[in-house]
Amino acid sequence: MTATSLDADVEHALSTLPLEDKVALISGDGLWSTRADARLGLPRVIVSDGPVGVRGHRENEQHGSANFPSGTGLAASWDRSLLERIGRQLAAEARRAEVDVVLGPTINLHRSPLAGRNFECYSEDPLLTGDLAAAYVTGIQSLGIGACPKHFVANEAETDRTKVNNVLAARTLREAYLAPFENVVRNARPWMVMAAYNGVNGAPMTENALVAEPLKGEWGFDGAVVSDWHAVYSTTGSALAATDLAMPGPEKLWGAALVEAVRCGQVAEAEIDRKIRRLLTLGRRVTAGRNQAINPSDAGPLARAAAAAGTVLLENRDGVLPLRPAGPTSIALIGPAALEPRTQGGGSASVYPDYTVPPAAGLRNALGEGVRVTTTQGAWLADGLREPRPGECTFDGAPVQLRWLDAAGAVLETQAGRLTTLTRGRTGVPAGAAAVELSTLFTPHLSGSWQLGYKGIGLGEVTVDGVPVATADSRDRAGNLEEVLIGAPDVSGPVELTAGTAIHVALRFTWAGDFMLFRVGLGVAEPRLSQDAEIAAAVQAAREAEVAVVMVGTSGAVESEGFDRTSLRLPGAQDELVAAVIAANPRTVVVVNAGAPVEMPWRHDAAAVLLVWFPGMEMGNALADVLLGAVEPGGHLPTTWPAVLADAPVTTTAPRDGELAYTEGVHLGHRGWARQEPAPAYWFGHGLSYTTFAVSAFSLRHAGAGVSAVLTVKNTGTRAGKYVAQVYASAPGSEVDRPAFWLAGFGTVQLAAGESADLEVLLPVRSFEYWDEETGWVLEPTLFQLAPASDAGQAAGALAGPLAAHWDGAIA
Ligand code: BGC
Repeated sequence: MTATSLDADVEHALSTLPLEDKVALISGDGLWSTRADARLGLPRVIVSDGPVGVRGHRENEQHGSANFPSGTGLAASWDRSLLERIGRQLAAEARRAEVDVVLGPTINLHRSPLAGRNFECYSEDPLLTGDLAAAYVTGIQSLGIGACPKHFVANEAETDRTKVNNVLAARTLREAYLAPFENVVRNARPWMVMAAYNGVNGAPMTENALVAEPLKGEWGFDGAVVSDWHAVYSTTGSALAATDLAMPGPEKLWGAALVEAVRCGQVAEAEIDRKIRRLLTLGRRVTAGRNQAINPSDAGPLARAAAAAGTVLLENRDGVLPLRPAGPTSIALIGPAALEPRTQGGGSASVYPDYTVPPAAGLRNALGEGVRVTTTQGAWLADGLREPRPGECTFDGAPVQLRWLDAAGAVLETQAGRLTTLTRGRTGVPAGAAAVELSTLFTPHLSGSWQLGYKGIGLGEVTVDGVPVATADSRDRAGNLEEVLIGAPDVSGPVELTAGTAIHVALRFTWAGDFMLFRVGLGVAEPRLSQDAEIAAAVQAAREAEVAVVMVGTSGAVESEGFDRTSLRLPGAQDELVAAVIAANPRTVVVVNAGAPVEMPWRHDAAAVLLVWFPGMEMGNALADVLLGAVEPGGHLPTTWPAVLADAPVTTTAPRDGELAYTEGVHLGHRGWARQEPAPAYWFGHGLSYTTFAVSAFSLRHAGAGVSAVLTVKNTGTRAGKYVAQVYASAPGSEVDRPAFWLAGFGTVQLAAGESADLEVLLPVRSFEYWDEETGWVLEPTLFQLAPASDAGQAAGALAGPLAAHWDGAIA
């Protein structure tokens, strides 16, 4: 059957489908699936978050996923080929999880450092974001799995995200916030795009004209536009707009009300048909993709390499790093992020990692028995229970045993539990189960009064060696997904424990039967010292070791989806801890485990500062690789890092009277920093290396329909390394209000010690154009200055320096 006859058949089938059935097709069938229709040959399409792995559609922590670095960590590599490889590995993960489309990448921009989801987005820069996203999407889709760039568009903050109306000039939209979407749509042709929760210039994105133009029209997007989850807010407004699929579903506003709206002529039936045709295109891609073979492969080595490739060396006084080959004989690993490392950010972007390598394990793997590695808490990020750490809970070789019980308490099934926190959707529990018992042997590392309990919305009872210690019933709070996933209370009781002596902990938990999913996890809290005593213990450990590695960071309570940050300070007494450890040991390396900027008042006092972001499941191994010098820290900042929040160009994400105005226009990120004082702590593009590079020549040449730069670069150091070329532009004679300088192109090259190469960096014409509301894109006949610089802070000097070149905007 030819494609044309297939189309005719499908068109015929579509024309005979009852209206009710058609309307049912354009909203989801549950949380992660669309509805199939045999008459149309339309398969059920399974989608899943993403973007650091593939969580799967079953809502079941027993199905693990690779956990790659979060968006900022990936973007810090500035490496398109790495992002493409990540995409390909994600396709393998999707196939393993029986998923057709991964809900990512997240390509909103870093407008303010306060935005809660910056960790998930790539950068403040539209070109870096768009090019890396295009590589990621190309990688996934090359293996027959779809990608879904999100959130279209201007979803740069979480505050009131479903209600806010963002106000942006057309030029700002085009040159900044739409630009990554245009890049990825034109260059990587994603199968889906997700319409954001927020509004733009008066209309929610699921009802916004931008979905039709430029997305579907001018840019030629031929995939399906899916609403963000529960982002369809009206019946006719959204149905008349170009949004094709309401998720999850069935969506009530697109149910009987929409059938009625079509019947009474408010929405033409042809609009519904148009949406279904988009879903049919998606369905064909999915069907073809399912026939494409994907060889399963181990994600570990790539996750490890990616984490190191994005690690940014911010400071390295006296070249303290790498620690090898000379030493060290002992390392004091200190700080909350050493013991409770964050491999990924919170919210929908979280996956259930196959495993995680904690920092101490990574160092011990690399160093072997001969080097002493101690761990010390130093500070706490929050009160309350924490999840048990790897190794604290064991039962028959697994962390916990799960016994599924029916309503009468009879055991239906017993299984080994992979994690101590369970997340289960309706289909994720054995038939007839009404409760679960988690059972484990817990071995404390300290003697004293512990709190033992759980976190979860439901009816729970915890026993220790058969004696009840805590119970609560919160089943009446199960109506709200966010509350179930992240807002559950701690329930715990005190128990006297002896270090090294295991106890049997059991939690019997009955979930609220009528809700779509439940989450429950064991929780523990050790006896704490006073904050002064914690710091004193850390100081002692630092003094006794050759090198101190202090690991600090954010917590899920301050950096996650669903809310914005209120401060960039490290939570708890972490700043005091770092200062005290630096004072105790001059060889102190500070490791920052955060997805986005934090204030670092001690940054000039530390021997070295490494930024590891949320580095994924291979965190410990990658950190050891970088610290010891097996691998270089390959990262450069994808976003400018303020010294203090107050210095940043945009210091609030709170709407006023429902509106958030992007008043800085196109001057976001380094473009904004360029026109103000004081300078940031670290500029966009900053990142030190274990080797050194020198650029000796820079020239321009016509390339295709544009221009490219050629840099002659030499590795002048003693070890191999990655050079990241950043080419900045300025247009001093421009007639329009342009940034003082901006990133016009980038590229990377791997060079052995002493090696030289000519690196060609494409400078897309779009890097020079501006958007005019009347005429569209304009390539101004003006003289553009171009120069390579090691970060945006060096750009102004480089553009006035000896290597600068000029381009008159003429296209050969
Ligand atoms: C997020 C999306 C995500 C969706 C499904 C929403 O809350 O904004 O990024 O894909 O949930 O989990």
